[in-house]
Order: sequence, then C-alpha cells, then structure tokens
Amino acid sequence: MFSKFKRTNSNNPDENELDLNNIPKHIAIIMDGNGRWAQRKHLPRVAGHREGMQTVKKITIAASDLGVKVLSLYAFSTENWKRPNDEVNYLMQLPIRFFQTFVPDLIKNNVRVMVMGDITRLPEGTQKAVHDAINQTADCTGMVLNFALNYGGRIEIVDAAKQASQLVTDGKLTVDQIDEALLASLMMTSPLGDFEDPELLIRTSGEQRISNFMLWQLAYSEFVFVDEHWPDFDSDSLSNAIKIYQGRHRRFGGLETK
Ligand code: FPP
Repeated sequence: MFSKFKRTNSNNPDENELDLNNIPKHIAIIMDGNGRWAQRKHLPRVAGHREGMQTVKKITIAASDLGVKVLSLYAFSTENWKRPNDEVNYLMQLPIRFFQTFVPDLIKNNVRVMVMGDITRLPEGTQKAVHDAINQTADCTGMVLNFALNYGGRIEIVDAAKQASQLVTDGKLTVDQIDEALLASLMMTSPLGDFEDPELLIRTSGEQRISNFMLWQLAYSEFVFVDEHWPDFDSDSLSNAIKIYQGRHRRFGGLETK
C-alpha cells in the first residue's frame, strides 16, 4: 500500500521519515468511534464494530511489520456491559469471528495472542475462541497481540492489592516488601516482562481520556489523540501517531539527556 511515510534507520530522520530505531515497543490503543462511524453512514452501530474488526486486522499487521513488540487493544471494558443487550451480544461474537478468520494470518506473521481481563464472564463460545487462539499462536515469537476483554484498570489494581494482602496474610511477604516491582508482577501485563508498560497510547475519535484502561501501566506513556474514528484508522494513521511520539521528549520526571 502507498504510504506517505518514508522509513529510515538513520538517527536523523527528516520530517516525513519514521525512525525505525525509535518505534515504541508497546503500543496501546483505545479503539473508539465505531458507533459514530456507523451513525455517520446511517448504519446500525454494530456495522461500526464489524468494520472496526477489519481495522484491527490491518493495524495488527502494520504494527508487526514496524517491529512493535506488543500491541494492546481495548476491545471490551468492564463498563461496556451497560450497553444494550444486542450490542453486547454482537461484541461478544466478534472475537469468535475475528479468530476464525484471522488466526492463519497471525501465525503467518508470527504474532502471539494474549488476553487480559476476566474472560470467565464471557459466553462459553467466546472463551473457547480466545483459548483456541492463544493455544494456536503459542509458539509465535514475534509481536504479542494483547486483547483487553472484560478489562478494567481499577479492578486490575484492586486484584493486585488483594493478592499482595493475601501473600502477607500467608506469611510469604512482609508489608515492607510491597513495592512497585511487586505490584507490577501481580498485574495482568506481567507475562510481558520488559514490555509491560506501553510507551505510546493512542485513542481514536477525538475523546481525550483513558476510560479505565491500563491505569498502572500508562504512568509514563505518551498519549496521542487522533480525530479519526477507529474504522478509518489505517497504517498511515499509525505511522503518523508514532511520528508524533518520536517528536516527544520522554524524561520520566528527570531532566533531558542529550
Ligand atoms: C468503541 O467504540 C469500541 C468498542 C467498545 C468496541 C471495540 C471493538 C472493536 C474495535 C472490534 C474488534 C474487536 C475484536 C475482538 C476483534 P464506540 O462503540 O464506543 O463508538 P462511539 O463512541 O462512537 O459510540
């Protein structure tokens, strides 16, 4: 596909070049605007989710091609159960349709599926599709495609706090041993090791909030908000967001290092 972004491995990219040496290792995306995309076209909201699923496929391949190590996608939040039943049911079917059609491409691209969130509340068919995809891609060593399904950032932190408390109660840990590293090890992202925290969060559709997504892990992430609705987001949009990230100076509370 034609891309307006040239790519470079040099340390001095010109204005239109993506610096391939500075691709965020972990990108998290809040895929917003499916409903508005559909509304604009006078289609039912679920048509937006269906198109959004196609965008997930395209962006997964684009991110993998760019050398991203982890792509975390907010597919269903703990709050999304409040939507009308028909829409929730449709969203629950999407992972089944997605994995049925896309696992061979994931394997071809060496992408491994991971899920965070309480999937035990999902319908059985959805749980099975998720487990099958995780198993089928278990040997892939490239990018991790991390779906947040029935996921909430606050409940994740609450659960980590409960687990830490239990370890203290069981005498396996003292209160003084509870530190950031310990809590990080109890988060759902701990299997990602060095890549557990996203360097870049993208949210589509113009809203500028994080809606209970990866609250712990986003502490030092760069946020890029784009106006496009998720179904319109493409590989150029991804490159553009990365380009914005590359123009930022990450200091982690310290001073600029040159
Ligand atoms: C937000 O748009 C989107 C969601 C709540 C669902 C995200 C799901 C997908 C992108 C489909 C792909 C999923 C899988 C598992 C492959 P919205 O409905 O809140 O849009 P609105 O704010 O315009 O109403």
